[in-house]
Amino acid sequence: MLRFVQLYGLLSVLLRAAILSSQSFAIGGLLFVTLVLEPSSCTLEVNKQKILQWTKRWALLVAIFQVTSLLVSGVVVMGLGDMKLSEVMGANFVRAGIIATTSALILAFARSRWKQVYLLIPAVFILVASVLTSHAISRLGTRFPLLVFTAAHQAATAAWIGGLPYLLLCLKRASPEAAQELCSRFSKLAQISVGALITAGAMLAIIYVGSWKALYGTSYGVMLVAKTALLGFLLILGFLNLRLVGNGLASCSWILTRLKRLGEVEVAVGFSVILAAASLTSLPPATDLATGLVARNEIAARLAPRWPHFYGYVALASSPQNTAPFSSSAPSKSSARPSSAMRPILGGPIWSEYNHHWAGLIVLAMGLLAFLARAGKMPWAQNWPLLLLALGVFVIYRADPENWPMGPNGFWISFMDPEVLLHRVFAILIVAFGAFERKVQTNVVLRQQESLVFPAIVVLAGALLLTHSHNLGNVKEEVLAELSHTSLAVIAIFAGSCRWLELRLPTEDRIRSVTAWLWPLCLLLIGMLLLNYRES
Ligand code: HEM
Repeated sequence: MLRFVQLYGLLSVLLRAAILSSQSFAIGGLLFVTLVLEPSSCTLEVNKQKILQWTKRWALLVAIFQVTSLLVSGVVVMGLGDMKLSEVMGANFVRAGIIATTSALILAFARSRWKQVYLLIPAVFILVASVLTSHAISRLGTRFPLLVFTAAHQAATAAWIGGLPYLLLCLKRASPEAAQELCSRFSKLAQISVGALITAGAMLAIIYVGSWKALYGTSYGVMLVAKTALLGFLLILGFLNLRLVGNGLASCSWILTRLKRLGEVEVAVGFSVILAAASLTSLPPATDLATGLVARNEIAARLAPRWPHFYGYVALASSPQNTAPFSSSAPSKSSARPSSAMRPILGGPIWSEYNHHWAGLIVLAMGLLAFLARAGKMPWAQNWPLLLLALGVFVIYRADPENWPMGPNGFWISFMDPEVLLHRVFAILIVAFGAFERKVQTNVVLRQQESLVFPAIVVLAGALLLTHSHNLGNVKEEVLAELSHTSLAVIAIFAGSCRWLELRLPTEDRIRSVTAWLWPLCLLLIGMLLLNYRES
């Protein structure tokens, strides 16, 4: 049962993320056509039709994800809550889901002769339905302001992050003059949206978090800090683009290329923040947690540097529990080295730390070799992605000792545990990295699309890590685990974005040479964080 609840938790976060992203791109497309493309003097009918087609596709996806979410939640509520179908039909989430699905279907199948302004009506309903399933609806005293702030926050997300892909689409064929006009218009819309997003986000944060202690002492607060860090990165990218638009796109051909490449990264990071937002909604607001807040000294103690342990062994005599092959209790820290009177401890904090430390060592070595390869000192260091293959095999073999191939749980049943499922997905992604990236680094692959697999997977892995929650049965331990995983996720998103820019920007671009050094540094940092990972 616990496994099922965990699986449902992960699935609901992913579905919420899918709904939020698709609604942002559907609404963003409509806003882009209405506020940016149509008023400009360079509206190309072909662009408009293409964007409206994409908008309809995203709306169809909203409907599909909403129906899936309704079915999954309905079955769970009926099964666990022992409720009848008639009772479930009256629930708030069902009503909101029906409104969203109907509106999304209207948008998806709207006739092309309909006036565009009419399409905004179902778009507004999609947004309203989404707000009705946020935390705001269940708050008593502050419900109305929270509903307004949530609506403003989500609308701004759609206008800015949701509109960006359409700008990039238009820029593909635009002349420098048309690009200048479209970018100036979008830039104004983006600036207003960023202002609204930050104001509404800050108000929501103040109400839902309430104190500095709760900001760093709860999972909700930690996720908000991660969102703010990613927002900071987006603002840097946006600022660089704003300067380019200000300088005039027509003045130099590389300016437009840089603008498009920075825009691509903005879309990827924006998508990651939406995933973080979905994860945020699945957590209880920090103000609701009267106890269990992690104190500053507890965080400092957990993060203080300690020597990693590379032996998953425990002394036979230390405790009778520890001799059990699948014990989950923490053994004594003095048992770091194996001897004849020791046996492996599978599962539990020591095992998990031991796995993280080995992974950290591999990532640290990768970062170091990538750094040396970048410096051009050792050509053989370009083979650093081979270490990823070792990492992938290590994760599959050692990460979940109760499961196949080490433990009694068979191959298929092991996928029922969401944590194991995520580990396996990551392991496959890691092996895919290794195979592709070695070819790229050693110049076997010269096609750019293939070389982009590595940075795209790094960003995706970072974004998915933001949805990864820990069920350790102890709120404080969960927050402390969230702290390290969330920082790893943010650095991974940054690393992937830097590598993407290195590959996509022209060789003479100065930003490219900076990002080319930054991502190996990020790998080093990830390695160090993993080496210092603790669960006790
Ligand atoms: C690019 C930046 C950001 C984007 C794209 C973004 C997007 C979103 C989205 C789509 C939601 C709705 C989640 C849902 O209802 O499931 C949300 C919720 C929220 N966001 Fe943001 N956000 C951003 C930055 C921020 C920042 C900087 C803060 C505050 C420091 C913030 C605070 C919040 C809060 C408190 C919620 C409410 C979640 C709940 O209902 O519990 N956001 N955000």
